[in-house]
Amino acid sequence: MCGIVGYVGDRQACPILLKGLHRLEYRGYDSAGVAMVNAGGQLNVYKCKGKVSALEEYLDGKDASGSIGIAHTRWATHGIPDNVNAHPHYSQSGKIALIHNGIIENYRVLKDALEMNGYKFRSETDSEVLVNLIECIRDNSGCSLAEAVRMALGKVIGAYAIAVIEEGNTDEIIAARQSSPMVIGLGKGEFFISSDAASIIDYTNDFVYVNDGEVAIVNRHEPLKIVNLENKETQIKVTKLDLSISQLEKGGYPHFMLKEIFEQPETLMDCIRGRIDPVSCDVTLSGVKLNRDRFLKARRIIFVACGTSWHASLIGEHLIEDLCRIPCEVEYASEFRYRNPVINPDDVVIAVSQSGETADTLAAIRIARKAGAFVYGICNVVGSSIARETDSGSYIHVGPEIGVASTKAFTGQVTVMAMLALVLGKEKGTLDEGRYHELAKGILELPERIRDVLSNNSLIENLARTFTYAHNFMYLGRGYNYPVALEGALKLKEISYIHAEGLPAAEMKHGPIALIDIELPIVVLATSEHIHEKIITNIEEIKARGGRIISVITRGDSQIKALSDWSIEVPPMAAELMPVVASIPLQLLAYHVAVNKGRNVDQPRNLAKSVTVE
Ligand code: M6R
Repeated sequence: MCGIVGYVGDRQACPILLKGLHRLEYRGYDSAGVAMVNAGGQLNVYKCKGKVSALEEYLDGKDASGSIGIAHTRWATHGIPDNVNAHPHYSQSGKIALIHNGIIENYRVLKDALEMNGYKFRSETDSEVLVNLIECIRDNSGCSLAEAVRMALGKVIGAYAIAVIEEGNTDEIIAARQSSPMVIGLGKGEFFISSDAASIIDYTNDFVYVNDGEVAIVNRHEPLKIVNLENKETQIKVTKLDLSISQLEKGGYPHFMLKEIFEQPETLMDCIRGRIDPVSCDVTLSGVKLNRDRFLKARRIIFVACGTSWHASLIGEHLIEDLCRIPCEVEYASEFRYRNPVINPDDVVIAVSQSGETADTLAAIRIARKAGAFVYGICNVVGSSIARETDSGSYIHVGPEIGVASTKAFTGQVTVMAMLALVLGKEKGTLDEGRYHELAKGILELPERIRDVLSNNSLIENLARTFTYAHNFMYLGRGYNYPVALEGALKLKEISYIHAEGLPAAEMKHGPIALIDIELPIVVLATSEHIHEKIITNIEEIKARGGRIISVITRGDSQIKALSDWSIEVPPMAAELMPVVASIPLQLLAYHVAVNKGRNVDQPRNLAKSVTVE
């Protein structure tokens, strides 16, 4: 993971770098650092353990001047988070500084060779090996910094987004990418480099996405130049991005997560807009329309995803099997990529990813494409690697998600999948006209239904107080609600650090029932009408063993309400769309429990928003 930023131009670099780092903290926050070349050509590197705010304090009174610089916020891979392992790393002579997001897999071999040449290392990181390799090549061949970077990268196996500056050079940053995100923002006589365009959107809307195997020569007196590892110049494609700064701020909420939970009525409107005609209720997804035949001849759909996106994919599987009668599989991308999967050229592979940068998902789609499958992306971040490497796709359009715990992306993903299932079901003739329009209307109503659920916030806040000190939680659901149970449990785990398990309700009696006692809160997703009686049986089984039941019920369900210790009511909704509605109280429950426990909700320990390493 990690976030990188760079600046070269006429302004002072440091404030731009620090602001960029704050916006990139979702990518890692173990340690942070900056390096600037001052007007006299001196290279100053400052770094420390902790968040960007710790770095800001550390910089107080230091010479942080210079109109060229690079900066990094770290999520540790090699070496513990401390001052020494923090980036930027500088070469043995202290003349070259480098920031790196990724992993150099063959760093041991390279390090041994450098050590034999007299190089000594200060840190345990793979990144320090790379900066010394660059220096070694430069010293031995007398070539330019750009050449040395290019030649060094030719020897490297692994993933990287790097930016390199050197003493005495106030004009030029060398940047390169392989499997880790990198974008260059274009200004007038100035350039901004970042892992994520959102972190530099204050300065420009014109971006160049650096591709794998490319080295960018970012010189403030010259047009941007990009070469590949064979030194062949590549064509520069400028992309305009339309992001607003308010989307990147908390807007009065104490945490991004709460803001993102509360903005779901609007983000779902953005997701649906232009895709469902409010009058005719006809659904159109341009990515599917353009590739209609490819979808219609699919004998199987395989979803590949990780984490929350994997949970959303499980709902996609239900929807597509139910409404389109196409067999589906849902794969953890990290397993799929290493287990020699059977992929047929007439399979459609759907990659689901909020960030569009998850390394395992990216690797999975490369395998699928190589095997000849048609690969469709469901991503949030516009221009992300997965969005660019898939054959076609649909953005979920929910705006930047900054809280590490995914909330609005989940509801956006499920909504896009519901629209996809409607489009395919209609095309295949597996879905009757009446049901099609009923569900399309249901999707149009989702923003209003979510608003209704959000009005339960204070009730859920009170409920959360009762459970702040629980050690374990269980979440149960059936059918469409089973993935919601998984997602509810993940939300609680990742931000409150309370152990939680999500299970299909009826599986409980095959083992997990042994865990039930009066200490265990059990969240039961009890909205499904067609298996209402079965859920009641599951609840009775829990009660008989003393478990405390928090049920999520359809408004007016007095039967389950009477059986539960606490209930959260949600408005009636078709079972196919219920996951979007029923997931909201679970997001709020996790949020309030975590806040009560004093956790860092937006930046939970050990996690990072975008997992760009294996
Ligand atoms: O960006 P992606 O959707 O590919 O990310 C996948 C997971 O890393 C992500 O969903 C993760 O599980 C979240 N922290 C969940 O809240």
